[in-house]
Amino acid sequence: MAAPTEFKPTIVGFLCNWCCYGGADLAGVSRFQYPPHLRVIRLMCSGRVDLAFIFRAFAKKADAVFIGGCHLNDCHYNPEGNYDAMGNTLMAKRILEKLGVNPERLRLEWVSAGEGTRFAEVMNELSAKVKSLGPLGSAEGIAVAELSSRMQTAEDLVPYIKLVERERFRVPVRTEDGYRKFFGSAEFDELFNELILDKLVMSRIMGFLRKKPVPAMEIPGSLDLKPSEVARHLQELTVQGLIKFDAGQSLVAAV
Ligand code: FES
Repeated sequence: MAAPTEFKPTIVGFLCNWCCYGGADLAGVSRFQYPPHLRVIRLMCSGRVDLAFIFRAFAKKADAVFIGGCHLNDCHYNPEGNYDAMGNTLMAKRILEKLGVNPERLRLEWVSAGEGTRFAEVMNELSAKVKSLGPLGSAEGIAVAELSSRMQTAEDLVPYIKLVERERFRVPVRTEDGYRKFFGSAEFDELFNELILDKLVMSRIMGFLRKKPVPAMEIPGSLDLKPSEVARHLQELTVQGLIKFDAGQSLVAAV
């Protein structure tokens, strides 16, 4: 019998040019050992990592996404891009969780250009973590096509998310602790559920109904959602005129 093939995770790494990329380079020239799973994308600042990049990487079957930036208060851009990276990462983690993807597949770290050893350690840790989680999708029990569809829904919603983030999500203190407290607070949960989660679920239902007519009772199971949640959103979508029943009493998208 053939031996099972070893899982070699694909990790997409967005590295800031001024620090983490230098750390990766130093790790390379110093011959520090770390797994060869990282696909590097060099950016000028970790704050340049748009939410859409994260969802697109997962839609393209990355098993993990890594964002490497300068240490806090060492960012070369003003206002500090790495605080934006932290906000985007914490928001993306919450969305991934709601889409059934383990948020530990997304990791943000600060690594300076002189920290080659640290870069190698972080990569070794992340690689071991992703190996323990297993391949994206199959580990979560989500088919590849469905996973891509969920990530596409999230990516399509990014302009809206940015708008509400700017208007309604205000982190009171610009420190690492301040960000973690805010994104873990009841206030954030309330805003997220009211402004983002409902929109995300409705977008998933709309995307599903655009593919083919579906009896209402099949929607919760197909999208891995609670029947009560689906019923509430179907009512809202019907009132808005976005869905309707066809002649066979299946639901279809009206737009
Ligand atoms: Fe490195 Fe902004 S320049 S995180």
